[in-house]
Amino acid sequence: MMETMVNEKLTSKQLIELEDKYGAHNYHPLPVVLAKGEGVYVWDVEGKKYYDFLSAYSAVNQGHCHPKIVKALTDQAQTLTLTSRAFYNDTLGVYERFATEYFGFDKILPMNTGAEAVETAIKLARKWGYEKKGVNENEAKIVVCENNFHGRTTTIISFSNDPDARKNFGPYTPGFIKIAYDDINALEEALADENVVAFLVEPIQGEAGVYVPGEGYLEEARELCKAAGVLFIADEVQTGIARTGQLLACDHENVKPDILILGKAISGGVYPVSAVLANDDVMMVIKPGQHGSTFGGNPLAAKVAIAALEVIVEEKLAENAQKLGELFRSEINKLVQESDLVKLVRGKGLLNAIVINDTEDSSTAWDICMKLRDNGLLAKPTHGNIIRFAPPLVMNQEQLLDCVSIIRKTILEFEK
Ligand SMILES: Cc1ncc(COP(=O)(O)O)c(C=O)c1O
Repeated sequence: MMETMVNEKLTSKQLIELEDKYGAHNYHPLPVVLAKGEGVYVWDVEGKKYYDFLSAYSAVNQGHCHPKIVKALTDQAQTLTLTSRAFYNDTLGVYERFATEYFGFDKILPMNTGAEAVETAIKLARKWGYEKKGVNENEAKIVVCENNFHGRTTTIISFSNDPDARKNFGPYTPGFIKIAYDDINALEEALADENVVAFLVEPIQGEAGVYVPGEGYLEEARELCKAAGVLFIADEVQTGIARTGQLLACDHENVKPDILILGKAISGGVYPVSAVLANDDVMMVIKPGQHGSTFGGNPLAAKVAIAALEVIVEEKLAENAQKLGELFRSEINKLVQESDLVKLVRGKGLLNAIVINDTEDSSTAWDICMKLRDNGLLAKPTHGNIIRFAPPLVMNQEQLLDCVSIIRKTILEFEK
């Protein structure tokens, strides 16, 4: 009985009803039910084809179902999937050497999701603060930015200022100082507190609406942290792995963080893989038994991440993101001139957003995304009147121009 029910062919409408009835209502998806993906395209249950302009929040940078990454997954899945870290396995060390050389750090600590990696970085920074910096027990503080998004755990939402993320989830974890983003003076002031152990920052605030800080901000922030004896932690879960036109968004300013947080596209969206990278003086404060995860660094994750990172280099995805990003913004800027509805476009590489000329709480951005869907392109508002545009980085110029024309046509139709 159950067998037939699980295998029956259902329509989009029925599948949406199932999620609504049996799943927690912690998301509000755009009504489209996807059944297949390949490269820059996805198909819904009824067979309609779309350009994916979200890439699972920048996880699918290498494109959907990349054959090399899928092969790494399926080969390893038939050999060994999980040993836990109770034992050594024949893939983890190889991956650790590969990833540390790739990103230029002494050590990597493997986890699974972005939020777990952020938690790891927070624990690491605090422990470093007590054991290396000499901060008194339980007094360590971490400076974070307003409108940050670092994930959904209890500690992380404690320093969010998004009411949806926070309200009624208290009591909140103390030990965080919130300052304005892209405000170097505010950072300088905050760093005067000698209990500050770290500054945790997104090089571009993705979820907040693709806010790109002023040129030089990251570099200055990094220098201030160094001078104050404070760790500079870059959360590159969304901006990392070629998305912004460099391997890391920090690379645009030649900034090397003390702690680098990665997730999402480190697996090409094939499997949950995240990581924290740091040099020995920081990473070695964590000793056996002090942090871990059953699945962190498992053989599947190790093989998938190596393949996903190789694809980035082999297919020159950072260079492609840089080139197509410039083209995208220049084309959309023409639309900004033409249309009253689009106020501006901003971003770096292929992490971009348009701001809709309407109040922040209006439904216009959502309604435009519905029309984009009808016209064959999937995107979603981030906050209120902002629509993020982040296609897979394997897109070519012709496809990108096709997408621009879909966006243009949709916006101009919408204005009528
Ligand atoms: C900058 C940043 N950090 C952390 C996270 C959390 O990642 P995850 O959803 O895998 O926990 C996200 C997710 O969007 C993110 O954008």
